Order: sequence, then structure tokens, then C-alpha cells
Amino acid sequence: MVRPLSNVDPSLRRCWHPVARPSEVTEQPRQVLLLGEPWVLYRAGGRIVAFADRCPHRRTPLSLGQCEGDTLQCAYHGWRFDASGACIEIPALGRGARLPPAARLSGPAGLAEAHGIVFLAPEEPIAPLGSIPEADDPSFEAGELPTLVARASAGLLADNFLDVAHFPFVHAGTFGAGEAAEVPQYAVVRDDWSFTMSYEHAFANREDPGVAAGIRPLVQTRRLSYRLTAPFHLRLRIDFVEAKGTNVIGFFIQPETADSCRLFTTLWRDDLSGDPARMAEAVEFEVAVLREDLRIQESFHELALPLDPTAEVHTRADRTTLELRRVLSDLVAAVEG
Ligand code: FES
Ligand code: FE
Repeated sequence: MVRPLSNVDPSLRRCWHPVARPSEVTEQPRQVLLLGEPWVLYRAGGRIVAFADRCPHRRTPLSLGQCEGDTLQCAYHGWRFDASGACIEIPALGRGARLPPAARLSGPAGLAEAHGIVFLAPEEPIAPLGSIPEADDPSFEAGELPTLVARASAGLLADNFLDVAHFPFVHAGTFGAGEAAEVPQYAVVRDDWSFTMSYEHAFANREDPGVAAGIRPLVQTRRLSYRLTAPFHLRLRIDFVEAKGTNVIGFFIQPETADSCRLFTTLWRDDLSGDPARMAEAVEFEVAVLREDLRIQESFHELALPLDPTAEVHTRADRTTLELRRVLSDLVAAVEG
């Protein structure tokens, strides 16, 4: 039997994870938690660097220290390290002393910045970063949600993002009121460490000014396209067929510890004509939607995603979330060889 996937599963070390917004990383060290382990991030010469947040001397968190130029000084005995992680000074030994070769910091296998998020891979990643093509398309503008912290399982949060049967129940206070409960037939297409699912459905487009103007009917069609890249990179693209316009939601989950996650959510829209007030309103609405989801997600007793297909009951409306379990169980198997 496959074990449920917890936030600190060792196989997740071979994956990319979001750890910060670029604006959070400054010239002074900052600690982030990933898979139960601390990392220190800072900027050296404008470039973001990351190391395990543990001094090789007495394991003090380096994030307690200070940066001066490109060097980081440990808060305990003042050892100094350059931006490559090499120790360049041990004050207790005096100037010109020979420094122990093992006195160096260990970095992650990968560090990257993409679509407004800093990603870190502790060990050689086997799955690619999730892509957001709209982030590089000038006709779209981005609106970032505040980064939320939740007592939750990253696997269950990804499951929730891909789930299309909960809208009328969980989101009755936002967009779910009046949504049809029956989920249309849809197909899931797997592509290596990603899969996509899309379907079209009818909905009441109350935001469309064309409805009030009598140009378009209230009931219109929208196409929902979901994409997951393992482990927890998610994108939903919503295309409004009659009213035109596209809304994209990027959702990236940082499994911090066994019971905590940080959630990086960004909206990309091409239908707001550069109006910051409308984007602020869209962001606020999305925060309200996310809080409705978190009410359920934070209440789970066991914070792990079951990967054993016999551990839960699945229906045809759950094809996408069943595929999530398959991709992640393939990932665990690939890492464990
Ligand atoms: Fe860092 Fe001693 S613990 S210098
Ligand atoms: Fe939801």
C-alpha cells in the first residue's frame, strides 16, 4: 500500500517549490521553511542566493546573522561566508589562518525565479517548474494575492484547487450560488509530470456590461482549463466565450512543515483595461474564495493526501483529482526507484 503524501515526504525534495515573492528577499538574510527544513535566502549583488539555514560550525541558523556586501556573517561566532558559500573568515583564528575546507554552506540543487515567485529545489528536480504562458504575455496584467499561511496539507490543497464538484456548496457566498451541481463529462490528458482538463459550461455572467446593454444574453459559456504540474503548481484559465476576455489563476503551494503551507496566488487578466481598482476588487474577491476553501482544508484531521486509490471512494466527477493521486504516486515511485 502506498503511504499518504505528507508535506514532508522525502520524495518532495526532488521537486521545485515556491519559497518567496522576489520582493521578500532583501540584502539581509531571511528564513523560509520547506519540507520541514529551514533555508536562508538573501541577495548578493542583486542576485538571490539560498543555503541550508545552518552554520557548519555549531548549526546556528544563519538567518540570525547579518549580511555586509556579498558576505553573510553568522550571529554566534562571527564566521563569514561569501556568496558561493565558502568560509572566508573565522575571527577566533585571527587573520591569515588556514580555514577548514569543510567550513562551507550547502546550497539547494536549484533556485529559480519565474512568474513573480522564487522557487527552490532541495535536490535535483525530476519534474519541471509549472509554466504560466500568460505571465509573459503583455496583454495580461498580474494581481498578486497576499501570501496566506494555512494549517493544511499541500496535497489536499492541490486536490481542492482541481476539484470542480464543490463550488455550489463551499462557494455559495462568492461565485458558487446558482452554479449547477452536476459536473459535465470531461477528459483528463496526462503529459509527463503534468495533466490538463478542460470543459465548457453555461453560467450567468452578471459582471458583463454587455448584458445590461442588451448586447449579450445573461446565460453565457465559459471554458475552464486546469493544469497541474507536479507536485503543487496549479493554473486555471477561464475563457469567456461570448463576452471574450481571459482570467488566469496561478496557485503555488509551499509545504513548509508537516502541518503548515504558504499559498502563493496570482491573477492574470486581460479584461480590466489597466484599471487598478478593478484588479484590487478581483484580488479581494479571490481572497474571499480562498478563505471559503481554507475553512474545509484547515479542518482535516490527517494532513496528507491519500495515494492509495482504494483509500477513498471516487466517482466520474473526480477524474482530475484521481489523476493528481496517480501523478504524485508516480513521482514517489520515480524518486524511490
Ligand atoms: Fe556559526 Fe559558530 S555557530 S560561527
Ligand atoms: Fe474552491
